[in-house]
Amino acid sequence: MAYYLVSALIGIIITTYEVLRVTSSAKLYGTVLYLEKVFIGGYVSIAFFILIMFAGAINPKWVITKKLLSIRAELAIIASIFIMPHSIIYLIRFIVLKLPKAFKTGVIPKLYIAYISIGIIAFFIMIPLFITSFKKVRRKIKGIQWARLQRFAYIFYFLVYIHILLVLLNGKYIEWLKLSSYTTIFGIYVVFKLIKYKNNKQAKLDYTKRVDKVKM
Ligand code: HEM
Repeated sequence: MAYYLVSALIGIIITTYEVLRVTSSAKLYGTVLYLEKVFIGGYVSIAFFILIMFAGAINPKWVITKKLLSIRAELAIIASIFIMPHSIIYLIRFIVLKLPKAFKTGVIPKLYIAYISIGIIAFFIMIPLFITSFKKVRRKIKGIQWARLQRFAYIFYFLVYIHILLVLLNGKYIEWLKLSSYTTIFGIYVVFKLIKYKNNKQAKLDYTKRVDKVKM
């Protein structure tokens, strides 16, 4: 609870600063400004989401996996809280500033519209995942329903990757190091997930064979 409250407080401070920055001459400097940029840019949140993703993809027997899995729901809640200022501020900026300008000038920046739309969809997919990460809510949901809902996490990760990819492709110049880092991380995740899926399928097959043998 303390971690959630601290995360929410950070989120509120960042959102308030971003509003003040646009509406008045409020300006941060130095390390504090740097930290604020790291949060509002979505970087802290994506770092948390990457941990959550890999917790479900790497070998469950490893100590690190066990540790990550034991706090996976808590990490998901904190990651979701941290992405709120990013999503809310950029969405408002898009609706209030960018969209009217685009209509006025007739210039519709396609890549920008695409990554904003994908970000919005990802954000709305994240909300039920966020709410159901709270133990009190989770207890009220049936196992099958929970498993079905969790599948949306894969769509969320995919959309987040596309969102980031388009953000980077939309820059004045392409930051290849960033682009290749994100692509490597998400790519390794997909490979690990496929290996895990294959292993689980094989284990199930072996189990069915053993049961059939016993029955005979
Ligand atoms: C309403 C939803 C969203 C909107 C409107 C939105 C908008 C934006 C915008 C405008 C940028 C570019 C920022 C800049 O140029 O400084 C950006 C970058 C980014 N967004 Fe989102 N976003 C949304 C949701 C998300 C979600 C759910 C995530 C998931 C974690 C996310 C992760 C990121 C990251 C990591 C970057 C930085 C990419 C980079 O430069 O390395 N966004 N987003």
